[in-house]
Order: sequence, then structure tokens, then C-alpha cells
Amino acid sequence: MIDLSTTYLGLKLANPLIPSSSPLTANLDDAKRLEDSGAAAIVLPSLFEESVHHEQKQLEKYIHSQALGLSEAGSFHPVPDDYSSELDNYLEHLQQLKSTLNIPVIASLNGISDSGWIEHGKDLMSAGADALELNVYYVAADPDEAANDVENRYINLLQQLRDNISIPIAMKLSSQFSSVGNMLLRLEQTGASGAVLFNRFYQPDIDLESLRIKPQLALSSSTEALLRIRWIALLRSRIDFSLAATGGFHTVEDIIKALLAGADAVYLCSVLLNTGPGYCADLLKQLEHWLAEHEYNSVKQMQGSVSRSCAINPAAYEHSNYVDVINSYSKDT
Ligand SMILES: Cc1cc2nc3c(=O)[nH]c(=O)nc-3n(C[C@H](O)[C@H](O)[C@H](O)COP(=O)(O)O)c2cc1C
Repeated sequence: MIDLSTTYLGLKLANPLIPSSSPLTANLDDAKRLEDSGAAAIVLPSLFEESVHHEQKQLEKYIHSQALGLSEAGSFHPVPDDYSSELDNYLEHLQQLKSTLNIPVIASLNGISDSGWIEHGKDLMSAGADALELNVYYVAADPDEAANDVENRYINLLQQLRDNISIPIAMKLSSQFSSVGNMLLRLEQTGASGAVLFNRFYQPDIDLESLRIKPQLALSSSTEALLRIRWIALLRSRIDFSLAATGGFHTVEDIIKALLAGADAVYLCSVLLNTGPGYCADLLKQLEHWLAEHEYNSVKQMQGSVSRSCAINPAAYEHSNYVDVINSYSKDT
């Protein structure tokens, strides 16, 4: 029997596969199916402070208009007693998952204000989340904002949450930092329990007819996994906290590479949206098969064995083979 267990954010997991934030984990039946097919934990979709805020404003406007008898309120419709807000629904879903599933449930938060991050973080902790993931989707588009200021945003945010929240905190990061390694080190020193590498920034497109910007969401492919694998391999021996890989993990080969590089957990999203929640079971069977064939007794035994500090040719993760790679291009390949 091969031991697939791993530890992530201090949580003991049966295996490294974690369905990440997506509509699948927003649905109780799908979440149950994910657990049944072997998922070791799940991450809920983010609670977006922006949406909570917007909803509250709309409600206040509606109640105010009715109180004044303004025509935009239409005929009088009292707010029903059983009205539940987006925040209430999120917390109720979290509590339902906690009472239905046996696997850890990680809540995810995307805030906009300091108080929003902290108050909602506390709400999620009180509702029973086993850990909190911070989805900091920040596009540093202002040329007047220096790299250090951008990084300090993340650190200050983490510091405030760390002071107020006792469950493990992971930060989901984009790859767009001048020094990813230094950023991770600072997060670790500030009390994060782990980082999730890397968030995908969705790229808006330009509609050539209307000349409008159109938002678009394209699911990932395996080619995106290599960026994550490389950075996990480079940093594994320098960073003690947990590292999860997200972005482009579709096949068992992608997952094995992430584990060899040193990932503690591998997040799955696009592949599960494409194939359905039952796919975790197939991946776990294939992972077990690969481990047996390559004479590993456990996932722990292979984790990090091709990280930068353990690889036969560690320099290949850095610059040294750059020229060789460029020169290796041939028109026929
Ligand atoms: C439809 C959809 C919804 C998502 N919602 C969230 C979200 O609420 N919060 C979050 O942090 N990531 C969200 N993600 C990002 C995924 O959790 C994941 O990190 C990303 O898709 C990369 O993994 P993949 O290549 O396996 O899809 C979402 C992705 C998709 C496709």
C-alpha cells in the first residue's frame, strides 16, 4: 500500500490533490462528489468583499427610496424576513460543507478594504474554515507605485490578518513580482502558513468591431504548469512553509512533476470543470501506479527530490541553459 499523505498548511491530508476555488466547490453535491472521488481538501470560491459591499449598497438604496416613497422604488416590497445576504449565504455554505464533509475546507477571501479583509476573515474563521486563503488579485497598473510599495501591501495585509485570525493563512500569489523568492520569504516571516503559486490573471481582449474591452475567461492547459513547477523547484529548499501549485495541472504527469519539484499540494480547477468531480479518483489511481512503478513507498519520499537543491543539474532551473535552449530550436521541431 503506497502512502499518498502530505501535510499542507499544517493540515494532515490523505493525498496532495485539492480542488481549488471554482463553481464546483460552490455546490454542495459537487463538493461531496469531490470528496467521494478522493479529493484531500477543498478550497471554496472567494468571498468577494466588493460583491458584499455592492449588495449592501443596493439594499440600503432600495430601503431608503421606499422610505421616501420615491418612484424608483416602484410599489412597496418589504425586504422579506428570510432575506439572506451574499455573506450569509457564503457562511451557511461553509457551515454546511463542514457538517457534511470529513475533509478540510479552506475558505477564500478577496477583500478591498482593511476592515473588510479583517472582519470577513474573522467571519470565515468563526464559521469553521480550517484555513484561510487570501486571493489578492491586485494588478499593479500605476507606474507611480514602486515595486516595494506593492509588496508592502501584501505584507501589511497579512500582518493585520495574522494579528486577528488564528487559523492557518495561505496567500495565493501571481508570478508578477521582481523577486518571487524574497516575497515568499517575507510572507513566511510575517506568519503565513503557505503560498499558492500562481494565480492566473485573466487577460481582457479587445473586440475589433465595437472597440470595447471584453473580459474573457479561458480555462488553462498543461503548458502553464511548467512556470509553477520551476518556481517551486527553485524555492523549495529556501522556504519552510507550505507550497501549493495551481495553474495548468491537468494530467498525472503534471502533478508528479509538481511533487518532485517540492509542492506539498496540487490544486485542480480547469481539469475538473472539463471532466467532472470524479476525475480525482482516476488521477489518484495513476499517481499510485507511477509511484509503485518507480519504487517509491510514499509521496513524501518523492516530494522535492528534483527541487533545485536535489536535482542532478540544478543550474538548468536557472539561467545557465538559456543559450542552449535558444540554440536548440530547429525549423523541423
Ligand atoms: C470559473 C472559475 C472560477 C474561479 N474562481 C476563483 C475564485 O473565486 N477565487 C480564486 O482564488 N480563484 C478562482 N479561480 C482560479 C482557480 O481556483 C485556479 O487557481 C486557476 O483556475 C488555475 O488553476 P487551473 O489551471 O487548474 O484552472 C477560478 C477559476 C475558474 C476557471
